[in-house]
Amino acid sequence: MKADIVIRGGTILDESGERRGDVAIAGDRIVGVGDGLTGDREIDAGGCLVTPGFVDLHTHLRQPGKEEAETIETGSRAAALGGYTAVLAMPNTTPTIDSASVVREVLELGRAAPCDVHTSGAITVGRAGEQLAPMAEMAKLGVRVFTDDGSGVQDDRLMRRAMEYAAGLGVLLAQHCEVTSLSEGTCMHEGEVSARLGLPGQPSEAEELMVMRDIALSRLTGARMHFQHISTAGSVAMISAAKAAGMAITAEAAPHHFTLTDESCAGYDATFKVHPPLRSAGDLAAVRAGLASGDLDAIATDHAPHAPQDKELPFDKAPPGMLGLEYALALALTNLVDSGIGMTVSDVIAALSWKPARIAGIDDHGRPIAVGSPANLAVFDPEHRWCIDASGGASRSRNVPYVGMEVRGRVTATILAGEAVVLDGKAQR
Ligand code: DOR
Repeated sequence: MKADIVIRGGTILDESGERRGDVAIAGDRIVGVGDGLTGDREIDAGGCLVTPGFVDLHTHLRQPGKEEAETIETGSRAAALGGYTAVLAMPNTTPTIDSASVVREVLELGRAAPCDVHTSGAITVGRAGEQLAPMAEMAKLGVRVFTDDGSGVQDDRLMRRAMEYAAGLGVLLAQHCEVTSLSEGTCMHEGEVSARLGLPGQPSEAEELMVMRDIALSRLTGARMHFQHISTAGSVAMISAAKAAGMAITAEAAPHHFTLTDESCAGYDATFKVHPPLRSAGDLAAVRAGLASGDLDAIATDHAPHAPQDKELPFDKAPPGMLGLEYALALALTNLVDSGIGMTVSDVIAALSWKPARIAGIDDHGRPIAVGSPANLAVFDPEHRWCIDASGGASRSRNVPYVGMEVRGRVTATILAGEAVVLDGKAQR
C-alpha cells in the first residue's frame, strides 16, 4: 500500500522492545514497519526514538469556565508538543463536568484538538462531596474515569457507594487523596521548611489517611481504584503493599513530585504551590523509587494552568498548580533515567504511554508499533539538551516551576490518527 507518511531511520520503542526501522502510515493506520519504506512525505527520525504517543491521565484544560488560563485548544496543543496523543481532562471546571450535557460540550470542543480529548466525570455533583453524580449517564457517552480531582471525596459512606456504583458500571474511580480536616488553611508541606518560612503546613498524613481508607474500601467493595498524584513515602509504601496483596490498584505520580521538593517554596513564589504540595527529599526519593519499581504505574502531568494575575498573589492566597505537558518527557528522562535509580527509557515511555492508556481504557493509544495499529505516535530526540524557559510554551498560562533547568529529550514530531500535528518541534494546528 502507498504510504502517506514514512518516519525514517528512527529507533522504534514500544511494549515489545526496541528495534531499528521505518514506520509507514496510510490514513490513520500504520501500514508498514521495516527498512527502506517509502511514502509521499518523509519525517527524518535519525537519532530519534519513535514510540506510541503519550497519554496523560491528569490534564486541567480549564474549559468551560476558566478560558483565561487555558482552553481545550491551547491545552491540547501543549499536549501535542509534549508528545501526547491523548489526554484525560479533569472535571473541576465551571460548571463541573458532572452531567451528560457538560461531557458532551467538552467532547465536542475536543474534536478539533490536536490530540484526542477524553474527559473524566465528577464522582459527586458539583464535586461538593454530598451526592453521587449521574455516572451511568456520563459512562454512556464514553466516560471511563470518575474523580472529584481538586479535592477528595471526604465522606466514607459516600465513597463506598461510589465504589459499588462504579464497579457495577465497569468504570474506574480515581482519587485526589486529601483529608480536608488536616489540609484546610494550609499552603505547603508540613515540615522543617514550612516551620522556617512560617507558612501553614499540610502533613503527609492528609494524603495518607485517604489512601489508607480507599485501599480498605476497595478491599470491601472489590472496586478498582486509581490514586492520583501520589506524593509521600507513606502513600507509596501502602500502594506497594496493596499491590503485593493482589489488589486492583493503580497509581500515578506527577513530574513535579519527582523533580522538586518543599525547599523550592523558600522564595515564597506561588509558582511552586501545588496540591498535593511539594514534599521532602525523602518523599521525592520514594516517588522515584515507586516509579522505578512500577508500583506507581504512570507519570501523569497534573498540568494545572493558572493565569499570571492569579499566580502573582501571595503564596497562601494563590491557587495551586503548575504546567506539565511540555516538560514531562524531558523531566522524566533527566530525573528518572539519569539519576541512577534503575529506570530505563523504556520504563519511562511505559509510564507515559501504554500503562496510562490501559488504566483509562484509552484503547487506540499506547499500542504496539505494528501493521494495523492506529497511527498515534511520538518522535523525540532523547539526547537533545535544552533549558526550560518561562514562556509556558503553547499554554495560555506561564506557571512553570522548572525555569532554568537543563534537561534532555525533545519531541520533534507527534502523529495523531495519521496526521503530523507536530513537525520539527512545531505545532501544525
Ligand atoms: O495543584 C493542583 N491544582 N492540584 C489539584 O488537585 C487541582 C489543580 C487545579 O485544578 O489547579
